[in-house]
Amino acid sequence: MTPRTLRVLAALAGALSCTGCSGWQSALDAHGLQAAHLLRLITFIVVVCTVVWILVLGALAVALWRRRSGPSEPSDTGPAVERRLTVAVSSAVAVTAVVIAVFTAASYQTTRALSDLPSDALTVKVRGYQWWWEVSYQDPQSGRTLPSANEIHVPAGRPVRFVLEAADVIHSFWVPSLAGKQDLIPGRTNEIAIMAQRAGIYRGQCAEFCGLQHAHMAFMVIAEEPAQFEAWATAQLQDAAAPTNPEQERGRQIFLTKACAACHAIRGTPAAGTTGPDLTHIASRSTIAAGLLDTTRGSLAAWIADPQTLKPGNNMPMVPLAADELRAVSAYLASLK
Ligand code: CUA
Repeated sequence: MTPRTLRVLAALAGALSCTGCSGWQSALDAHGLQAAHLLRLITFIVVVCTVVWILVLGALAVALWRRRSGPSEPSDTGPAVERRLTVAVSSAVAVTAVVIAVFTAASYQTTRALSDLPSDALTVKVRGYQWWWEVSYQDPQSGRTLPSANEIHVPAGRPVRFVLEAADVIHSFWVPSLAGKQDLIPGRTNEIAIMAQRAGIYRGQCAEFCGLQHAHMAFMVIAEEPAQFEAWATAQLQDAAAPTNPEQERGRQIFLTKACAACHAIRGTPAAGTTGPDLTHIASRSTIAAGLLDTTRGSLAAWIADPQTLKPGNNMPMVPLAADELRAVSAYLASLK
């Protein structure tokens, strides 16, 4: 095997196993009810088309073979041959019409199945921004709203209804292992249903080109056992953790007095900005900047120090901070589990 072949194979294996993203992302590996419907449809269409392709090529091969030993003038045929040809072409047209009709019916049925939602669905509102996802949970009992960003926890085995909106341009919500795509369009509300059949981390991706950082607009859907999901929701409803050492306390003060609090909210503090992601429990999320960096104190510091180099064009400005201020703010944010 040449080095080039090896590189191609390695790239293919990487694409299939999703190396480099901490979550599974493949429409061919369905873990959701809706994705399973879509996978069945595409498998059916691919199998039928493959059979048709093999039949057509087989017929072509037979025709070429006969042509070798046939008459020198193939169009010079008698009425019997004409009749046979008419029957053959008419049958092929009829079969084609039937295949297309069956495909149409199968697609229609799949679309119906996708929108067929049980009524006990959990509702999650997702709003697309350049380039991150605002997530909020509506609790019908308490009426409370639980805000988050870029990471969507859902209970496994329970349907979830996503209400999709966009703040600026058109985005598209796509978790290949769980369901199909649905656009987020400014000025209108779309919906998509998802039901994760088993617990797991499923990577999602904006699937509509939405500007410079479209490729850095990822999110995670974390499907958990219902009890685990409830525990997560209860923890997320709490206000932000109080600082536990002087450095974190200083970081909190700097966060509240510098520009940070104008754009970000931290519940339990005066910070109530709504331009950027809610940071109340930022350290409980596995990544920051919509899947760009793992959440560590170091990456938080790097992001605050220079967001434009890490993700050019995003709306986070560079807030001038001295080195010790940067250390304190990152220490505080990293403590917000
Ligand atoms: Cu948002 Cu592409």
